[in-house]
This record gives sequence, structure tokens and C-alpha cells, in this order.
Amino acid sequence: MEILNVIQGRRSIRRYRPDPVSVDQLQALVSEAGIWAPSAGNTQTWRFAVITNSLLLHKIKLVSPGLLGSPPALIVICQDLEEAQLKGGSLGPQFLAIADAAMAAQNIMLYAHALGLGTCVIASFHREALQAILGLPRSIAPIFIVSVGYPECTPRTPIRKKDVIWFNEYK
Ligand SMILES: Cc1cc2nc3c(=O)[nH]c(=O)nc-3n(C[C@H](O)[C@H](O)[C@H](O)COP(=O)(O)O)c2cc1C
Repeated sequence: MEILNVIQGRRSIRRYRPDPVSVDQLQALVSEAGIWAPSAGNTQTWRFAVITNSLLLHKIKLVSPGLLGSPPALIVICQDLEEAQLKGGSLGPQFLAIADAAMAAQNIMLYAHALGLGTCVIASFHREALQAILGLPRSIAPIFIVSVGYPECTPRTPIRKKDVIWFNEYK
């Protein structure tokens, strides 16, 4: 696929077919795309939990109002906040870790779209509850959930604002 077709054709998918996504494909989303995102100072303090277990999926849905539909897989993009603090000072956990996780999420979603998979990035979930469900230590914080599965349908393309750019002096 042409790069602009991938970028502009990706939609947030909130209705999924029940078909599972293969372990190889889920692995590839992270290892071939997610970890190739830029990271501040190349610190790579991100961590990725891939969830396919139906009980875990059910529990995560209960604490995630922003998780719509029934995706067969989730990639929980986490950050090691202790390592982020060590490597980036206070800016590490407060800002750089979030920015890095967002960039990894976008890489995952674009590659997924190119593979014919649907995704949605989700920020609306209870962080402490998810941490407990996944048995994460305190220093490993979930930043985003990315739902993954085969789309049931292609949603309408939300209109993009065009008047958001200027060259040089602010207008
Ligand atoms: C930081 C961030 C958080 C988001 N959180 C949610 C969410 O919790 N639930 C959801 O369904 N979509 C969420 N979205 C997806 C947006 O609603 C979606 O990207 C937007 O409506 C544009 O649609 P598109 O992705 O199909 O172009 C989030 C997107 C971003 C960038």
C-alpha cells in the first residue's frame, strides 16, 4: 500500500469480527512496527502486553469505558516509569514516556491497517485497575490500549480540519 493510502485509510475500528488474530501477526505488529517508532533519546522505555485470553479481555473491558466492541486482541502499551525517570529526569515519566507510547501506537495501527487489520487507540480506561488485572509492578504503567481485530465494517471517515496550519508567522 502507498504510504498516504495507509495513513489516510486507517480508521478507528470499534466493531470487530470474532475471528482471532494470529500470534505471529500480533508479534509482528510490535516487533516490526511498534518498536521502530522514535523514542526520546532512544531510551525505549516502552513495554508491550499482548492480550488474547478471553477472561483477561473481559476483565479489561469492565474497567475501560473507551473500549468499544469485542476485539479478539489488545496491545497494552506500557512504560517503565522508573527507567523513564532515570533516563529522562522528571520530563521522562511526565511527558516523554507518553509521547513515545503514542508514536509506537501509531506505528502499530498503521502496520495493522496495511495488513488488513483494524485497530483503535484507547485512552479511556482505569489505569490502576488495568495494572492490577495484568499483575504489573508499580513502575510499569499502562499508557494506551490498542484494540486489534478484523473490522466488521469500515466506518465513515471523520472530517479533518484543514485550517490548522500556517507557514512562518502565526495567522
Ligand atoms: C489520545 C487518543 C485517545 C483516544 N481514546 C479513545 C478511546 O478511549 N476510545 C475510542 O473509541 N477512541 C479513542 N480514540 C480514537 C479517536 O476517537 C479517533 O482517532 C478520532 O475520532 C478520529 O477517527 P479516526 O481514528 O477513524 O480517524 C483516541 C484517540 C487518541 C489520539
